[in-house]
Amino acid sequence: MTEPKQWVKPDPEKEDVFWPTEELKETAWVSDESIYEEALENPEEFWAEQAEEGIDWYEKWDEVYTEEPYNYEWFVGGKLNLAYNAVDRHVENGKGDENAIVWEPEPTDEDTVRITYSELKDEVSKFANVLESLGVEKGDRVGIYMPMIPEALIAMLATARVGAAHSVVFSAFSPESLKDRLDDANAKVLVTADGYYRRGKPLNLKKNANKGLRGSPVENVVTVKRTGADVEMEEGRDHWYHELMEGASTEHEPAVMDSSDLAFILYTSGTTGKPKGVMHHVGGYAVQAYLTAKWNFNLHEGDIFWCTADVGWITGHTYINYGPLMNGVTTVVYEGAPDYPEYDRLWEIIEDEGVTQFYTAPTAIRMFIKQGEEWLEKHDLSSLQILGTVGEPINKDAWMWYFEHIGGGRCPIVDTWWQTETGANVINALPGVGPFIPVYAGKPFPGINADLLDTEGNPVGVDEGGYLTLKSPFPPSLIRGVYKRPEKFKEEYWSEYGPRYYFTSDGARIDEDGNIRITGRLDDVMNVAGHRLATGEVENAIGKHELVAESAVVSRPDDVKGEVPIAFVMLERGAEVDSETLKKELIGLVDDTIGPTARPADIIIADEVPKTRSGKIMRRILKSLVKGENPGDLTTLRNPEAVERLQEKIQ
Ligand code: PRX
Repeated sequence: MTEPKQWVKPDPEKEDVFWPTEELKETAWVSDESIYEEALENPEEFWAEQAEEGIDWYEKWDEVYTEEPYNYEWFVGGKLNLAYNAVDRHVENGKGDENAIVWEPEPTDEDTVRITYSELKDEVSKFANVLESLGVEKGDRVGIYMPMIPEALIAMLATARVGAAHSVVFSAFSPESLKDRLDDANAKVLVTADGYYRRGKPLNLKKNANKGLRGSPVENVVTVKRTGADVEMEEGRDHWYHELMEGASTEHEPAVMDSSDLAFILYTSGTTGKPKGVMHHVGGYAVQAYLTAKWNFNLHEGDIFWCTADVGWITGHTYINYGPLMNGVTTVVYEGAPDYPEYDRLWEIIEDEGVTQFYTAPTAIRMFIKQGEEWLEKHDLSSLQILGTVGEPINKDAWMWYFEHIGGGRCPIVDTWWQTETGANVINALPGVGPFIPVYAGKPFPGINADLLDTEGNPVGVDEGGYLTLKSPFPPSLIRGVYKRPEKFKEEYWSEYGPRYYFTSDGARIDEDGNIRITGRLDDVMNVAGHRLATGEVENAIGKHELVAESAVVSRPDDVKGEVPIAFVMLERGAEVDSETLKKELIGLVDDTIGPTARPADIIIADEVPKTRSGKIMRRILKSLVKGENPGDLTTLRNPEAVERLQEKIQ
């Protein structure tokens, strides 16, 4: 075995600060920090150059960027197709025989599936023809409720190919969540699967899909046969994927899309109980997804890139599907649980496939720390070059463990901050530039302008906490609207500092060198095992119980999941219940309304919760109670005595 390459070196003076080695700088797309200053001098010029070089356009844009309040657009008048850029152009450039997708099924007795770019082009073209035969036209919406199988990517790409917008719904979301999303987007077609494997068991997804479809606007449903489960198919509405694909042609002309056409909708949690449909436009999304994947993970031909997210989240959209494929590398898709059949499943895949870049979430890293290093010892991870992390602030212990044990002290950790709304990475250290410092995400990506502001809108100083904002000109892949709710769009993102500052809802600090440390959400959005969830959504689910008068959900820090929801529940006057039965019923309601990922870790039945004189629940106090901290000043409360009673219950 040749000696694995060293991609980072420690700072000679500062502890726990790392820099790229010469070897990494030589291969990196960018290795000089002057890029930041240069790009910010003229962001429009920077992005235009990148767009021209990285993306194939049918027609070039007339204007690089336009902006008026709440309405900004990149590459105005430019024409392109996302699927063409992700698939066809590589075949045309002679790379048709290279692997586009490597799919690893969960059952270990099933073979790995490898799909080349040529094969992918055929599959995507065929499914694009299928979608059109089912009446899907440019501008329509297609629902996708699928497990981690290659057909999920094929369905997304085929939707993009015909010029429709996809709305992918995470497969662990409940039928009710699916229905809400299909209704809101007015989806014409739903693509789903009979099921998938999770920890050795087949799960029946079609059953949930069928429940969610009741009364929905969907006219046609296409189901992929994955597990062979017994499923109910409705005459006239339901079709098997393999049957429709059998007769479909591999010839399909991609739709010519305008930069400002809708690429997709992805629902995410906001401050209220109702998830919002985040809209992304084709042109800006394509450019930022392409460039951040390329530069942040140093993608080169032949690389095997593995992002462990689910396609149901933005990370899966951008860094399993569009980003790596637009760069022409191989993307790894794994169907199942990271700990099945054993805790070394992921390390085995890295070794077998020779994964070069690995991108995961702190919650997964913390889970592996608990299992111990022995699971790593039997695997050779020397193919790894770059490690990525995303989704929540990473604590120093998890960072160091990831660095030492997965990266062997050789690989940079690129901590990428971004959101469903930003569509692609926004803040991180570039691999060829560095530095890589535990808990610091790094600098805004070249051409992106971020500011940390105080409540008055003034920039904060070094090491003073502030609100993270993105400044005009906005990043190319930034959210273009909330589907059907323009008022919500204005209120959530622009009411804090006006139309020239996008408000992220995250708190952050900046060090003297301009590196940004994200401290976490400042609103009522939780991050549960990397899943974004609003406290209001859980409250709405619990509130459906006839005996519940009111509830308040707050997050509690958790060693592995980052945060978990804790529910305080007040019952209707005179309600008599067995608390264990009630808790089970409430968990059932959360499962049915949102999905099991939203289950409260604890439910506390209380007579009352602390409120202000005007009747507003004081979540700050509930948060400190669940953390076992001193609740602080209670003088502004209407009912300070409630706090003491709750403290007794919690202990
Ligand atoms: O609080 C930030 C956190 O995740 C939120 C966005 O969640 P979502 O839209 O589900 O997207 C997750 C994947 C991009 C942010 O507002 N977050 C994301 N990445 C990081 C992070 N917090 C700290 N460090 C990160 N690298």
